[in-house]
Amino acid sequence: MIPPKPSARADKVSLWRYLKLFRQDILSAQPAKLYRAWMAEFRTPFFRSYLVNDPKLLRVILNERPMDFPKSDRIGEGLRPLLGNSVFLTNGEIWQKQRRIIDPAFEGGRLRDTFPAMLAAGQAASARLSEGAQDIEPEASHTAADVIFRTLFSIPIEHETATQVFDQFRDYQRTQPILNLAAFIPIPRWFPRFHRARTKQTARAIRALITDLTAGRMAEINAGTAPDDLATKIMTTRDPVTGDGFSTEEMVDQVAIFFLAGHETSASALAWALYLLATHPQAQEKVAQEAKTFMQDPQFTRLSTLKFTRDVFREALRLYPPVPMMVRQTRCPEQMRDRTAPKGAQVVLSPWHLHRHTRLWDNPDGFDPGRYATETGRKSLREAYMPFSTGARVCTGAAFAMVEGPLLLATLLADWHISPVDGKTPTPVAHLTVRAKEGIHLSLTKRQ
Ligand code: HEM
Repeated sequence: MIPPKPSARADKVSLWRYLKLFRQDILSAQPAKLYRAWMAEFRTPFFRSYLVNDPKLLRVILNERPMDFPKSDRIGEGLRPLLGNSVFLTNGEIWQKQRRIIDPAFEGGRLRDTFPAMLAAGQAASARLSEGAQDIEPEASHTAADVIFRTLFSIPIEHETATQVFDQFRDYQRTQPILNLAAFIPIPRWFPRFHRARTKQTARAIRALITDLTAGRMAEINAGTAPDDLATKIMTTRDPVTGDGFSTEEMVDQVAIFFLAGHETSASALAWALYLLATHPQAQEKVAQEAKTFMQDPQFTRLSTLKFTRDVFREALRLYPPVPMMVRQTRCPEQMRDRTAPKGAQVVLSPWHLHRHTRLWDNPDGFDPGRYATETGRKSLREAYMPFSTGARVCTGAAFAMVEGPLLLATLLADWHISPVDGKTPTPVAHLTVRAKEGIHLSLTKRQ
């Protein structure tokens, strides 16, 4: 069974039609040829954009000369009211300094410390589930949000402020996709946009809540009573170059992005991984076996025993990369294969197309977690796999997410058997992240 894939549009459409399709869903707005092209140039009288699938060129953009391909200012257009000057939006020296303060909190040793909080969130999720058919996406979001609050601020999602932040975010994401249309295409000012006033109001409410949490933590740090979690670690780290730390206001920007980038993405991956397991019973049984053994003595040092589970999660990230596309901008004219891109051109990097590229993967649309144990699979993994991006601007939470995903699958699959619901095949669409158009419906029964 081939996992669901969105339909592609016709090869040639007018700019107007493209913009309209794009606004509905960026995945189905693209032509099928992007699954086999090394690069595609999109040329209009107003702008040029380049979608890049060529692994060599991707390496130049992301690994070798990332500073020459900064994030476009337009990414912030809709997100800035919520994210302020967060590390997701900044460039140049400010960004470098922010990464120097944030990165140590996500290193291996710290992940070991956050493991008990992640495990507790997984066990709470499994205990919350009930038998029967249900849309699993809301539960996946709830669980991923719980992981973020427990690891960052040592509070469960049931904490009053955490619940309010979570509820407000749900509201926010209905009005503001992370893949801002304006970031991809410099659309004219008069083109209908999202509900701006509503988005700003929700952003203000979320920031007020996060400010309470962050200011409270700063007071605890000063009083010497702060718990040893990610927030404390980041707020007490000094930049080794300048000696500066984050002020409360700067930390609010970072907390907003940790929550936004860290829970929606993990929730999307978890929900798709569960769907893939529900529709591939043999793989599900293999995961359940690993999970049962692991859960008898769940320790950070034993995570390596969840080998197949990890490959399932990897495969879910390949087929349904939560962040399907990213955008950069050329700082000066650039040679892009046989074309010259002018300064200021949009460069689109698409995990979605790269991960299903017909010339870079065997059986690109099939679910095959076993592929990572083969030589060809490992080659594709090196060349054509970037669910967390790569290079200097790689996701700060990549290692965190690769512990969280398999662990949540293990806590759930040790207790539950899942199967698909007839007539409810999910259609992937890009909202804030890659989600299913009408939810991911699964039928749950308790395992003996
Ligand atoms: C399965 C889960 C996740 C996926 C697939 C994912 C994916 C990504 C991708 C593709 C980017 C690069 C975006 C771009 O360059 O435009 C990114 C950036 C980022 N992610 Fe994640 N992410 C995940 C989980 C997390 C978690 C758990 C956290 C934090 C707790 C996090 C924090 C961030 C931050 C702060 C950035 C901005 C980094 C920068 O620009 O320097 N992410 N993520």
